[in-house]
Order: sequence, then structure tokens, then C-alpha cells
Amino acid sequence: MTSDATTPVPRTAKSRVLSGMRPTGALHLGHYHGALKNWVRLQDEFDCFYFVADWHALTTHYEDREVIERNVYEMVIDWVAAGLDPERCTIFLQSRLAEHAELFTLLAMGTPLGWLERVPTYKDQMEKLKDRDLATYGFLGYPLLQAADILIYKAAYVPVGEDQSSHVELTREVARRFNHLYGKVPGFDAKVQAALAKLGKDDARYFEKQRKAYQESGSQEAQAKADSILKKAAALDGWTPDDEELLLGHFKGTGKTILPEPQALHTEVTKLPGLDGEKMSKSYGNTIAMREEPAVVEQKIKKMPTDPQRVRRTDKGDPNRCPVWQFHQVYSDAPTKEWAFHGCTTAGIGCLDCKQPVIDAIKKEQEPWRERAEPYLTNPKHVHWIVEVGTERARSVARNTMKDVRAAMGLNY
Ligand code: TRP
Ligand code: SF4
Repeated sequence: MTSDATTPVPRTAKSRVLSGMRPTGALHLGHYHGALKNWVRLQDEFDCFYFVADWHALTTHYEDREVIERNVYEMVIDWVAAGLDPERCTIFLQSRLAEHAELFTLLAMGTPLGWLERVPTYKDQMEKLKDRDLATYGFLGYPLLQAADILIYKAAYVPVGEDQSSHVELTREVARRFNHLYGKVPGFDAKVQAALAKLGKDDARYFEKQRKAYQESGSQEAQAKADSILKKAAALDGWTPDDEELLLGHFKGTGKTILPEPQALHTEVTKLPGLDGEKMSKSYGNTIAMREEPAVVEQKIKKMPTDPQRVRRTDKGDPNRCPVWQFHQVYSDAPTKEWAFHGCTTAGIGCLDCKQPVIDAIKKEQEPWRERAEPYLTNPKHVHWIVEVGTERARSVARNTMKDVRAAMGLNY
């Protein structure tokens, strides 16, 4: 967003972004290009909340807690190494926030089992992780836990891979159902009247007229007019976002939105395959860790399989059959790609020649990561501190939501 120096920019609160990652191993280049790079990019535009999803890790790894224990702070170091700045985003640890569990429990009461059984990742993962016993309550409920993670921060956007879209969709359904069941907070009508009074007589009357038109005919025009009234109201003394939500609910006849529906954020991400051309994943043993030693990076790339039909140096190759070529797509500029493509298809270069620019590019990419990680490795207290501060910041938001939720469900005896 840009502004010129002479006009004051209205202070609009940034929308909130929320995402989490499971601490099940050192992050690798696939995580960086597929997710983390995007998280870093979002930090300035949004109010970003990023958390270590250790409970989620337990839904599949409940038998290996050492793995999780070892990787919680290591993962935060990877995040900071990649460029997440704890001053500009909120980094926290799920298991420190019992509020997530509370919301999960409350949402669980009204969530039909079928909604969870139908989440596509449920059966997929069961199939894929056959060596683990996943016929557990926690594993079935895990997308609902994710819904609680998202809704408790009233996040507007959730950056996730395509594979997690169904979880965000479930979150939306859960929010809708919650608002429908509990949105008519006690005293809703009186609160609406109070908010209308803040608008002033004329605007209030105008707003009510648009509301009737909208509820009779679903008129878009009426909605636009009502929206402009609310926009104007934002500048009024004593006007709160709560008032806006109340009047929106009143306008649509749906009650107050207690838990707003989030949207999945699928920004284009770079697909970096593993060393063997399959998806990069620790379980396939085809990864390069973000903080892998340069010598190991070199070794791993040198050992990478290439076009299986290019057996001898004198054989012409086809880059489309070669995973190294996919690395060039991520790491090389146009001239280098041209050089590699031409060299391969004419047998002008050998595979080791072809790999060298990729090795160099990865090493160069890793340099700032290693530098940024250094102080945290020598002084782990600093990472703990980042998480401590972030967790308290998250807690104040989560607590507020839980107040609303408890009130809405009639639990504040
Ligand atoms: N389920 C996500 C994963 O396995 C991690 C996650 C947990 C998450 N809670 C979330 C992602 C909330 C986005 C929002 O990768
Ligand atoms: Fe792959 Fe490059 Fe060898 Fe061609 S020259 S097969 S693209 S490594």
C-alpha cells in the first residue's frame, strides 16, 4: 500500500493472518519455498500470527514425543532464520494456550461426526500412515482443533497448501453453525438499538430503511448503501467494531457474528520437489534441510538422479525427465536455464556441470539463514523469549474471544 505524504492515511487495522506448522523435523527447502517464504512476505501487509502446532503433531506422532520436543524450538529458529521477525509478527506455541483446547471442546459439542469423517485428508492420511494407529479420537478431531486455532484469533486469512483447503472449509462451516446457534446474544436487540442511536437519527432511519429493503428483496443496492453508512460510522466517537458487527448481523437478520469465517489464502508458491523428483518429505529421505551444511548440500546435489536415459556423457538428455531441471526452475535465471537446457539436449555439458549453478544458488540462499540462526543457536534463551512474548500476545486475543464465546453460549454464570 502506498500513500503520499500530504494526505493522512486512515488508520485501518490490518487483517489477521494465521497459520501453523507441525514440529516434526528440521524444516527443509520444500517447507521454505512452499510455505515459509510466503509467511515472510505476509508479515508487513497483515497482522500475522504463526504458531508451532505441537498438539497437531501429537495427533499423528503421539508415540514419539521426543521428536516433537526436540523440534519445537529448532523450528522457531528455522522460522527466524528464514526472515520471520518477532517484532513484526506473533510467534507462539499452541500447547501453552489452553484456550485452544477450550474452544475445541465447545465447538465439538455441536459438530456432526459426519463433517469430520468426510474431510478428505482423514481417509488419505490413514491410508498413507498405515504404520501408525490412527483410529483415534484425536486424529478424527484434528481438523476441528485446527478450526479452533483459526477461529480463536478471528483470522481473516489462512495461508495453507491446497491439501488443507478442506480444513479451512470445515472451519467456515463450524463458524457459520456457531453464529447461527449462538449469535443472538442475550440483549441483542437492545445492543442493536444502542448502536443505531450512535449513528444519529437520520442515518439510523436510513439504515433501517435499507435493512427492510434488503430483507424483503436481497437488494444489493440496499446493502451497498448500508455499508457506506457503516463505513462512515467508523469515524464516530465511541463507535466500536462490535457495533459494526451487531448492525451487520441485524441487517442480514443473522445475529451477531461471534466467530468470523476465515478464507484460505493460496498465493502462488514455488513447488520444489525432493532430490528424487518426488514430493520433498522427510519420510522419503529426499530433503535438503534449510540449515544443511554446505558440504552436505554439495554432496546431495551431486548424487541426485538425472535423466535416466542419459547414461553416458555423450548421450543427449531430456530435462523434462530430470529433477535437476526442476531445481533450475526454482534457482536459476533465464540465461542459466537456457544454458542448461541447450547443454543437456545437445550433450554439450555433463550433468555435474549442470548441477553446479544449482549447488551455488542453494548455498547462497542458505547463507543469510545460517547467519540469522547463529545467535539463537549460541543462546537458546533468546528463542524461548520470542515464544514467550508471542504466546502472551496471542493469549490476550484468545482470551477475549473466549469471553465472547462463553457469553454467547451462556457459560458466564
Ligand atoms: N494442519 C496444519 C498442518 O498439518 C497445521 C495447522 C494446525 C494449521 N493448525 C492450523 C495451519 C491452523 C493453518 C491454520 O500443516
Ligand atoms: Fe538433468 Fe542437467 Fe543432466 Fe540434463 S544435463 S540430465 S538437465 S542434470
